[in-house]
Amino acid sequence: MNIWVTGTNGQVGRVLLDLLKKRGIPAFGTTHAEVDIADEKAVRQQMQKATHVINPAAYAQVDPAETEREASFRANVSGPEMLAKAAREFGTRLVHISTDYVFDGKSNRPYREEDETNPLNWYGYTKREGEIRALNAYPETCIVRVSWVFGGHGARHYVAQVLRLVSQNKTLRFVDDQIGRPTYALDFAEALIALRDCQGIYHYSNSGSLSKYAFARAIWEWAQQKSLPTICEQIVPIPSVEFPTPAKRPLFTSFDTSKVEKLISIRPWREALTDCMNRL
Ligand SMILES: NC(=O)c1ccc[n+]([C@@H]2O[C@H](COP(=O)([O-])OP(=O)(O)OC[C@H]3O[C@@H](n4cnc5c(N)ncnc54)[C@H](OP(=O)(O)O)[C@@H]3O)[C@@H](O)[C@H]2O)c1
Repeated sequence: MNIWVTGTNGQVGRVLLDLLKKRGIPAFGTTHAEVDIADEKAVRQQMQKATHVINPAAYAQVDPAETEREASFRANVSGPEMLAKAAREFGTRLVHISTDYVFDGKSNRPYREEDETNPLNWYGYTKREGEIRALNAYPETCIVRVSWVFGGHGARHYVAQVLRLVSQNKTLRFVDDQIGRPTYALDFAEALIALRDCQGIYHYSNSGSLSKYAFARAIWEWAQQKSLPTICEQIVPIPSVEFPTPAKRPLFTSFDTSKVEKLISIRPWREALTDCMNRL
């Protein structure tokens, strides 16, 4: 076995590569600067060495994607398609990561894998198109959709961002009408390793749904309990209409994870969050 992890400067990619190394599983990683996943020559070169490729590389910034259309299309559509073509050619297993933003958030129950997609923004559109192209090029591809990743590598570490905000602001506002299921990057990395030989679409996140406001509150309360520096006096719940963003967000994206739970266990978000914060 030799697992190739793409995008290893990203929050999921780095955690995954570190975990594989810690486990003693043969693996190698490439950053964006080393391999652009839409570059045929570079992809084929790496693919020859791999039994599996796990693809966290993506253009994952939802608002900038609205204007950075070419770069986001390249990473989220051409990239997975290229990986799938090369994986098929070399008989390599492919695990590709997608998102809850392929849905429009109008469901009245948690989303199952076979539910109709209808992305509301360009990022979601490119991620859905990437799923379709990867599956068309290589039907044995495994697609793992994930939501609200926290606790990964780098500047996009959501918990660290909230801790910084509560240490610098007396009042904060978070939307309380966007509901979903958070996912701890380390738990997700474990899941990706476990799913490496699967095919088809899976939904993965920690268990329990909540709003972005409630999630921020949970981090703030933990900071208070641990006497971490915080000057924050209140976190105010606001509706999304009071916080306009370039990309429209779906309001309800909780996953139904019963399919993946037949293979692996999932722990509640609060337990995962506590574990994440204790490691900070
Ligand atoms: N973060 C979330 O809350 C969230 C939620 C749902 C789904 N996801 C999905 O989870 C996966 C991992 O996301 P993440 O949070 O780890 O994203 P991330 O931190 O932004 O990492 C993505 C990495 O991919 C690299 N990359 C971009 N374009 C590339 C290309 N063409 N070729 C090779 N590498 C490229 C980026 O490098 P540069 O920065 O140097 O360009 C970056 O290091 C993605 O598929 C994302 O769509 C994330």
